[in-house]
Amino acid sequence: MQTKTLVTRWLPNEVIEKLQTVSRVTMWPEVDQPISREFLLREIEDADAVLSMLTDQIDTICMENAKKLRIIANMAVGYDNIDVREARARGIHISITPDILNETTADLAFGLLLSVARRIPESSVFLRQGKWHSWSPFLLAGQDVFGATLGIVGMGRIGEGVARRARGFAMRILYHNRTRREDVEERLGVSYQTFDELFRLSDFLVVLTPLTSQTHHLIGERELNLMKPTASIINVSRGSVVDEQALYTALFQKKIYGAGLDVFEQEPIAKNHPLLGLDNVVALPHIGSASIATRTRMAMLAAENICAVLTDRNPITPIV
Ligand code: GLV
Ligand code: GLV
Repeated sequence: MQTKTLVTRWLPNEVIEKLQTVSRVTMWPEVDQPISREFLLREIEDADAVLSMLTDQIDTICMENAKKLRIIANMAVGYDNIDVREARARGIHISITPDILNETTADLAFGLLLSVARRIPESSVFLRQGKWHSWSPFLLAGQDVFGATLGIVGMGRIGEGVARRARGFAMRILYHNRTRREDVEERLGVSYQTFDELFRLSDFLVVLTPLTSQTHHLIGERELNLMKPTASIINVSRGSVVDEQALYTALFQKKIYGAGLDVFEQEPIAKNHPLLGLDNVVALPHIGSASIATRTRMAMLAAENICAVLTDRNPITPIV
């Protein structure tokens, strides 16, 4: 075949076979290890397409090395790992995998919310450590979810999924978004709040806004200070949307009740990171969209985007 596709992580055969209908494929063979920078820079040189992960920095140096690159197909809905300006300047398409992960990610967000509120992981550890000596009236007592106020920061399609779940828990649902979403307000009975009011009113604040230069540390000491001492924050977008140092302080000083974190400023997070030493933190290794079915669909969609571009069509799900 004339064209070459670089796949930056081991992916199942069905995905590779799909790519092989249009292209030769070179794949980094490891499942749990990100591609080495050296392998990436070398193999991207003559690649027409790259199927990338959110762990790969597709930056200027990378694109300068890539003499033939036509598409970066990220297997993620976020694309803060890609230098978009550089890609645009070079006429390289960028595609992502939106929508197919919405419900799976909303499930995880809600799971984290419940885990923090009712201290589920902490309770499980407590029991396994042999600390359960007697049922007791306030043992591991947490916060109610049913009837509480949910605040969604960044009302996109994942936010809608979270709101739909919250309706089943009779939650009062508030949101803030750069642009007001009157369609969603009508459809799901959610109400718009200013950014600050959202922090003041919410019992559970779910962060879903993408990471951009404008949303870096969008939530810091000032915002955390607006929150109620009984309120928790759930982050399933990108770690850097929240100032982690300020979050640690707020949690340590019990200015807020808890945090459910699927994402961190540095991933993987260090085992001895101060946040992991706090009982009121539920921490997960960035598994928001990690159901087998959804991850398979994401990989297939990334491959389909590459097939489209390498056969001279537009990507199916480009960034907007
Ligand atoms: C996951 O975080 C994604 O962006 O798909
Ligand atoms: C913040 O909520 C945003 O989406 O801009």
